[in-house]
Amino acid sequence: MTKAITPFSLKDAPALIEQLLPVQKLSAEVFKERKAGAGQTLVPLGAYWKGRKPLILNKACILGCLLPATDDMTRDLAIFEKLMAMDDESFAVRAKRRPKPNEILGKISISRVTDYFTLEPEGVLPTSAPIDWSNPEYTEVKVAWRKDISELVRRRLEAQMLPRVQYFERVNQSKRAEEVLDIVHGHIWDAVNDHIGTSAQSFYELVEQLGVMRFGHRPRVADTLCGSGQLPFEAGRLGCDVFASDLNPVGCMLTWGACHIIGSASVQRKTQENEQERIVKRVLAEIDRLGVETDSSGWRAKAYLYCLEVRCPETGWMVPLIPSKILSYGKQAIVELIPLPSQKRYEIKVRSGVSSEEMAEASIGTLRSDGPGQDPYLFHTVEGRQYRSKISTLRGDYRDKDGKTGSALRLWEKSDFKPRSEDIFQERLYAIHWMKPKKTGKKFDYKFTGVSEADMRCERIVEEYVKQHLEEWQAKGWIPDMRIEPGDKTDEPIRTRGWTHWHHLFPARHLMLLALIRKETKRGETLLRLAKILDYTSKLCRWTTSKAGSSKTGGGGRTGGASDNPTNVFYNQALNTFYNYGCRASFPLLQLFASKLPLSAITGTTMVACQTAAELDEVFDIYVTDPPYGDAVKYEEILEFFIAWLRKNPPPEFADWVWDSRRSLAIKGEGEDFRRGMVEAYKRMTDCMPDNGIQVIMFTHQDGPIWADMANIVWASGLQVTAAWYVVTETESALRTGNNVKGTVLLVCRKRKGRFKATRDDLAWDLQEEVEKQIRNLTGLNQKAMALYRDENVFEDADIQMAGYAAALRVLTHYAIIDGHDMTVEAIRPRVKGETTFLDGLINFAVDTANQCLVPHGIAKCYWDRLSGAERFYLKMLDLEYRGANKIDNYQNFAKAFKVRDFQAFMGSRKANNARLKSALEFGRTEMGEGSELYQSALRAVLYAIMEIAKDMDGTEVLAHLTMNIPNYYGDMTQRDLAVELADYLAKRLEELRPEEASAARVLRELVNNQRLG
Ligand SMILES: C[S@@+](CC[C@H](N)C(=O)[O-])C[C@H]1O[C@@H](n2cnc3c(N)ncnc32)[C@H](O)[C@@H]1O
Repeated sequence: MTKAITPFSLKDAPALIEQLLPVQKLSAEVFKERKAGAGQTLVPLGAYWKGRKPLILNKACILGCLLPATDDMTRDLAIFEKLMAMDDESFAVRAKRRPKPNEILGKISISRVTDYFTLEPEGVLPTSAPIDWSNPEYTEVKVAWRKDISELVRRRLEAQMLPRVQYFERVNQSKRAEEVLDIVHGHIWDAVNDHIGTSAQSFYELVEQLGVMRFGHRPRVADTLCGSGQLPFEAGRLGCDVFASDLNPVGCMLTWGACHIIGSASVQRKTQENEQERIVKRVLAEIDRLGVETDSSGWRAKAYLYCLEVRCPETGWMVPLIPSKILSYGKQAIVELIPLPSQKRYEIKVRSGVSSEEMAEASIGTLRSDGPGQDPYLFHTVEGRQYRSKISTLRGDYRDKDGKTGSALRLWEKSDFKPRSEDIFQERLYAIHWMKPKKTGKKFDYKFTGVSEADMRCERIVEEYVKQHLEEWQAKGWIPDMRIEPGDKTDEPIRTRGWTHWHHLFPARHLMLLALIRKETKRGETLLRLAKILDYTSKLCRWTTSKAGSSKTGGGGRTGGASDNPTNVFYNQALNTFYNYGCRASFPLLQLFASKLPLSAITGTTMVACQTAAELDEVFDIYVTDPPYGDAVKYEEILEFFIAWLRKNPPPEFADWVWDSRRSLAIKGEGEDFRRGMVEAYKRMTDCMPDNGIQVIMFTHQDGPIWADMANIVWASGLQVTAAWYVVTETESALRTGNNVKGTVLLVCRKRKGRFKATRDDLAWDLQEEVEKQIRNLTGLNQKAMALYRDENVFEDADIQMAGYAAALRVLTHYAIIDGHDMTVEAIRPRVKGETTFLDGLINFAVDTANQCLVPHGIAKCYWDRLSGAERFYLKMLDLEYRGANKIDNYQNFAKAFKVRDFQAFMGSRKANNARLKSALEFGRTEMGEGSELYQSALRAVLYAIMEIAKDMDGTEVLAHLTMNIPNYYGDMTQRDLAVELADYLAKRLEELRPEEASAARVLRELVNNQRLG
């Protein structure tokens, strides 16, 4: 630390994140990180965790809280971007391949080449570049960087080589900053230090110095809802002292792993790896000793395929339930069911290399859901007659007089691990996928076979082995003995299979393998690795086969070779049971268990605790949290799948944790309990925060009421909103499914100080002023930052709208008492369904105020104020389209903002990144009736007239229709002016988008202008 740093010099300085955040660029970076899929830094520790908040977003939040906002917003932005590796020079390093010196000389202008490069031999090349390398005299010249050229200068030159594309595209073509973390920031420190008065040469130093300037010490950052540890890891990597806690021990374990395995120093890693190798050897030796996964000719099992088998009530036959008889596209392998009438059952044969016709035929199995109601049915044919039975009937599903559902399935007992002979559903091994090392090198040959006598003997050995040890293993905690507690997600295994204990979800082979590994688990790291492979075990792994070149399930559109594999359990957020499933064999699972993990060292200190957020008892300067808002992910239920395996005798690192999901203490849902839980958690954080502390609360942006909810929570927790940002955090494919808005709002909060009072009337003025100021600021920064962003905006309209909401919340949450109401009490008052509370009213008013300010350029405010929500929506979105912003989530956001019930009716295309409104011609004669939100609106009348003109209808007739379609056209002269204003606006906005309609709009404008009245 140098002397120049003055403790508390930034004590009360506003944080950068309270003034600006380059959300568009950040969204592009988030997208990039998400698209890396399994390549994301912490995902290899546990792909089963749903809802990881991107590291790059977390980094932006932490830096944004530490950095000061100065009077020079443009410079603040430039420095922030350098720290985020978003500047041109950083992209020179992020490039997938850095350009060679002669490539640079071939492309850019340099007045004296020798200022940067050494040439061998000298004097052959021209003195200045660009150089035409096609000249044969130059081919022998060797060019190299001069040794005395600084990295910054080199990067500046290389940056000039970058393609001039939009930021999104640039990120797409480059590496993530994380991938070149050791070097990417090399050039930034002089500029950073110069701007904020630090003397740092690394993040560790910068963070420490900023911490001292703000809080008097290295910043103490906490996340008390830490989940998989994305935030604590990033904070630790930046050099903060971090505290992380979560109610759920699986979350804590992943956070611990992020910090101590991925974030460990490389020296520790070797010891960790040796331990895993030892375990793999021991376990594999035991499996091989039993001889249950190898055959006599060098093949080793890769996966076993099982299906349920059920007795058909009409024929008395035992029928395997197989949705598709295709085993593998790559191997053209199928199963065939050979009837054995004397035994009333089927033999199952496997054939590989079959014809395309046979493959097509095999795609239909004995289980089909293509009938009425898409319910699954069993189909089979005996002596030419087809029989079908509904699965729910086979299961004996019923609903009792209280409306509760039940079935005739026997509920399994603790000592069960396979069906009993009298059970409705039997389980049957029907095919095996084998692997054998090729003679040359590391690769394998693969094949599918049916099940031989020898294979069945192996099955019996495994079952006998499990039977003998089950009780002992359960007592020792090597396999689960825990009951499945009913719940939204945990009901399914109980209801559809009769499984009552977690170990019932696992085939005997997996119980055997996992118990052998669990037995050896003495360290935290091993437990994490065990959890990782648990995701690939159990009967909840669907068998999948894909053709070469097609994308795998969850593969995000990637292409590759053909693949045959059971999926992982948590490919979604449920506990779905399957009629047939794949059971990975021990060898591939052990390979996965011991697979290499990435390394990215943490420089700060980290501490992980398993406790509720309300139990926090230390003070921290910065909190960044991502609460489980109305979450689709029921962590407290689905993670019991893991807890059941890990809870007994945990390794010393996790021994103090409560190995239970404590469902009742989890914050969940959306109702009263949710609000109460949130307030309890956030009030505690606020109490455990210095007066100049800062919080960022993340939540998924869904719809209007969430703003009121968040305002309530913030208010009741003693916080005040100071800013809000919207970052798109989902990938394109996620956006496409259902076209739901999936972005994250970052709500920046401070402690509310004092007990200020206001009346609603005063608030109206405050709100108006604050919202307008905020919007002016951001629009202003857009203008100023043009050079920095080339011709892209720092903020798009949706961001500005969000900032408007934030400004409104900022005004509101500043006050403790409004119109005599104590807002902290008001905020937690239980709600009556359907009631609009005082606070709802305030929020609605604030949000309306924010939206009012978003008048598109080209329409006078006096006209805008008269328009309906649907008209505003159409005009606003046209403005956005005109500027090339075509994301569907923009449409959704604004539909909500303008309270449009069904914006779909106005859409010509709803593609995620290429959405657009209907044109006048596409509207045709629709949306004119009473049911439409555009009914009797001036805009609809104008669009109708444009359509008629475009179809060459006579002008007088067009005008006659227009005057009829616009109510009170002759009674209120301003209606006519409005029609002119709208026609003019449409003409300008449509000029490039739809020139024909633009010209029709111009004609209309003139027609109305020149219309003789009276
Ligand atoms: C949305 S997740 C956080 C995800 C995290 N940001 C990540 O990137 O992985 C919310 C977390 O809050 C935890 N949680 C719910 N109620 C809690 C409570 N009362 N106290 C502490 N943690 C709680 C859940 O276990 C879950 O891990």
